[in-house]
Amino acid sequence: MESNHNDMTPHDAADALRWLSEMGADEIIGEMPVNRLVAPAPKPAPAVARAVPAPAAAPVVVAPGTSAAQFHSLREIELALEGFDACPLKKTATRLCFADGNPAARVMLIGEAPGREEDIEGRPFVGRSGQLLDRMLAAIGLARTAADREGAVFIANTVFWRPPGNRNPTEAETQMCLPFLLRIIELQRPDVIVCLGAVPAHRLTGRTDGILKLRGKWVTATVGGRNIPLLPTLHPAFLLRQPAQKRLAWRDLLSLRQMLDAH
Ligand code: URA
Repeated sequence: MESNHNDMTPHDAADALRWLSEMGADEIIGEMPVNRLVAPAPKPAPAVARAVPAPAAAPVVVAPGTSAAQFHSLREIELALEGFDACPLKKTATRLCFADGNPAARVMLIGEAPGREEDIEGRPFVGRSGQLLDRMLAAIGLARTAADREGAVFIANTVFWRPPGNRNPTEAETQMCLPFLLRIIELQRPDVIVCLGAVPAHRLTGRTDGILKLRGKWVTATVGGRNIPLLPTLHPAFLLRQPAQKRLAWRDLLSLRQMLDAH
């Protein structure tokens, strides 16, 4: 017999919701059905990007293909992203997830993409993987809350909005966000970059090997004419799923510590 959702008890409904959430269907895309067979009304031509007035408070409208070189502060980039509608991830995300930590830090960490908690809070790595990341960093004397440049980290992601259902961002999505990420790196001027997981490692090194092959090997990223040592390592979410691999992540953390101590 077909079940009727009206027969559901509140307990059944809570179970069904929990199940959907565990399957990754944890957001409502839209309340009204959309007839995709009807041609959409033509959109107004995108506004031409303009210089950001400083101090600016409102999002800046940024046309696709705009050079990020016009942004002169992290705040300007954040406002530009608020006004950047070309990335489809923005449509399903709750809010922009820009960056966290101390912009003066010697170390910049780059993750893959915001997850559910990050989407709600608007800050990278605030969920379970973020808590593990904070513990890993603390083990080598680093923290996103540190006020001094030596002990601090700055954290961003390869894309600035959560992909629906926590899927990996596509090549097109990471490409679209890349000019902003590169400009963040130029302005933040880290001494070293740490890529958490394959997505940022691939995007910033151009290599395509699996993360288990790339991890632990320092390479050089050239951003804005500066050569920056870059270390790919395992993503904390991977370590939560495979705790036995923490010993590899620990080796990478020690390598990072040595690199910082040597320079
Ligand atoms: N995973 C990421 O890669 N980034 C986040 O911000 C959170 C989880």
